[in-house]
Amino acid sequence: MKHSVCIVGGCGHIGLPLGIALSVAGARVTLLDNSESRVRSVAEGRMPFLERGADESLAEVLADGRLSVTMDPDAVGRSETVIVTIGTPVDEFLSPQIRTFDRAMGAILDRMHDGQLLILRSTVFPGVTSRLDQRTRDRGLRVDVAHCPERIAQGFALEETGSLPQIIGGATPTATRRASALFGMLGSKMIEIPPVEAELCKLFCNSYRYINFAIANQFYVIAGKFGADFDRVRKAMTTDYPRMSGFPGAGFAGGPCLLKDTMQLAAFNHNDFVLGQAAMMINEGLPTFLVESAKARYDLSTATVAILGMAFKGNNDDPRDSLAYKLRKVLTFESRKVLCTDPYIDDPSFVSLETALDEADVVFLGACHDDYRGLSIRKPVVDVFNFLKRPSEQDVEAETRTAA
Ligand SMILES: NC(=O)c1ccc[n+]([C@@H]2O[C@H](COP(=O)([O-])OP(=O)(O)OC[C@H]3O[C@@H](n4cnc5c(N)ncnc54)[C@H](O)[C@@H]3O)[C@@H](O)[C@H]2O)c1
Repeated sequence: MKHSVCIVGGCGHIGLPLGIALSVAGARVTLLDNSESRVRSVAEGRMPFLERGADESLAEVLADGRLSVTMDPDAVGRSETVIVTIGTPVDEFLSPQIRTFDRAMGAILDRMHDGQLLILRSTVFPGVTSRLDQRTRDRGLRVDVAHCPERIAQGFALEETGSLPQIIGGATPTATRRASALFGMLGSKMIEIPPVEAELCKLFCNSYRYINFAIANQFYVIAGKFGADFDRVRKAMTTDYPRMSGFPGAGFAGGPCLLKDTMQLAAFNHNDFVLGQAAMMINEGLPTFLVESAKARYDLSTATVAILGMAFKGNNDDPRDSLAYKLRKVLTFESRKVLCTDPYIDDPSFVSLETALDEADVVFLGACHDDYRGLSIRKPVVDVFNFLKRPSEQDVEAETRTAA
């Protein structure tokens, strides 16, 4: 018989691609979600967000019945494995919203029975998995609990799910064995560690990336203050110099995970995470720095400005915690009028790219969508990513081939 899995939060950015991947690999998957619109969209075979290659696979697994979608919370009790992929945001004080998560877990545990495997896939505060394991035992519930954090890059989940190693943090050896067997279906390599180390592994990964982006952004600001071209410096630093090969470019480090997880780690360490907190100040301060620098060159107070791209990253439709919105907020104060455009985000207040470019006196790049490559913009442009001037991957490949 096929392995049965219920994914709670199954219509989200993590739950849905994982559900598709597991059902393609042969599991019988039920996606449980409390968002009516997302459930309807998935049931009709429409991805509620952009995910490369997902549309075809979703149609296929829905058609042959391997994947189903529901809002009925009792679905939790009808599968061998329950995987939790609900959001784990921080609150307005940048502390993890533990109570919301606990309430959701309580509703899940109410419907679980002995013998099931419970996997936390959401990014959680260190200690949550062991606490949850204890909570199940306090209820007299004999389930195996494991934390197996998700590490895909949003938008590339289906490509990465099978190829990235899976971190398996079982609360018991049986939980580890069962979780490894489940992810074994995807052909992944397993890395088995204690649950608190699995929790830290995910938070360290995201904080490390967030701090790295902050280093580049701080250097960008320093270079800018001295009239130096950061991208020329960066090119000089990294060209044929392997020790600097991982040095990122400057740009917005927004989105639903990096800042949030850096702050989860800070909260875990009793708000003592100097590097993480400094990174937040630098990354979150970048939109203001860009506007202040632009003000030194152009009279923004009488200008119409346009922001091209509002998603938190290029070629994506997710506006969550996008710094383009923070840029819009700063520009709303500093300029006469702000026009926003994004080909992936449906927002009646946005204008077309043509209108934005026509009407703007100054153009800011907010997200590096491929649609903007090769645009010839005859207006002043503020492009912290250096994207509009950067050759595309195809151009670089072509150049390399020509040189060879
Ligand atoms: N987005 C990413 O790239 C990414 C990468 C790695 C890890 N994560 C982590 O994965 C988790 C989920 O993130 P996401 O981006 O998929 O969030 P999301 O908001 O896209 O998905 C969460 C889903 O859970 C549903 N949901 C919330 N509470 C529920 C409940 N009580 N019962 C049923 N459904 C419920 C929501 O309707 C939503 O569809 C977070 O902990 C996040 O940090 C995200």
